Amino acid sequence: MNKDTIIQVSDLTKLYGETLAVDHINFEVAKGEVFGFLGPNGAGKTTTIRMLTGLSKPTDGKASILGFDINSQIAQIKKRIGVVPEISNLYDELTAFGNLLFMAQLYGVPSRERKKKAEELLKTFRLYERKDSLFRTFSRGMKRALTIAAALIHNPEILFLDEPTVGLDVVAARSLRNLISNLRQQGITIFLTTHYLEEADLLCDRVAILVEGRILAIDTPQALKAKTNKKSLEEAFMKITGLEPEVLAIEKGK
Ligand SMILES: Nc1ncnc2c1ncn2[C@@H]1O[C@H](COP(=O)(O)OP(=O)(O)O)[C@@H](O)[C@H]1O
Ligand SMILES: [Mg+2]
Repeated sequence: MNKDTIIQVSDLTKLYGETLAVDHINFEVAKGEVFGFLGPNGAGKTTTIRMLTGLSKPTDGKASILGFDINSQIAQIKKRIGVVPEISNLYDELTAFGNLLFMAQLYGVPSRERKKKAEELLKTFRLYERKDSLFRTFSRGMKRALTIAAALIHNPEILFLDEPTVGLDVVAARSLRNLISNLRQQGITIFLTTHYLEEADLLCDRVAILVEGRILAIDTPQALKAKTNKKSLEEAFMKITGLEPEVLAIEKGK
């Protein structure tokens, strides 16, 4: 294992009844990378994130994050990662500020630091003026931004983002991509899933292409385009997977 490896996955597998949701996948993520997991709906992206973040037990295989084993040392891992699920884990009836303070407490941020950290994140994410508004009054883009802010409250070294821009309009999606790029500048390692290939091309240092639980390719977007002799990552993806572009167009109603 390379000394810069921060996520190491070996033969990770998840079986749901007779569905092999994730089928013996192998990959490594280096510290500071933005690593993208690309695939159509049902490919196993969310299942992979859930296993890596301790929300679901692997059927087989193993993974380590920051040198800790996901099966036996998940408590140590949780302290040092942030997770942004596809459906927000924040509370509708709390204000933006209240949600951040609550998460800070949950993650064991010392009480004297909570307020300062929450205010700092609200400013970074341009939500400070709305800090006293209830979460439920926020637009989708603002909700997603605050959910990311909440995941950063304990200064995690790795951020997991499941489909960060699904359901957002073009402007909100762009602003979120900028935020993600800024996090990368700060040295945070980012693992994200998406079925928007253009987004992956803009954001990711390397991507893994996942179809039916299996990884078909892992490389930089540039290398995947060069190897397949295609101009866009979407075309490269179609060539590698043999899928039709429509499989990526299915928008989930959230
Ligand atoms: N809790 C579950 N129980 C049974 N099957 C599941 C469960 N979660 C996911 N699956 C199945 O596992 C496969 C991968 O799902 P998922 O990881 O959500 O894919 P993606 O996030 O790439 O859209 C799908 O066939 C899905 O139906
Ligand atoms: Mg998913």
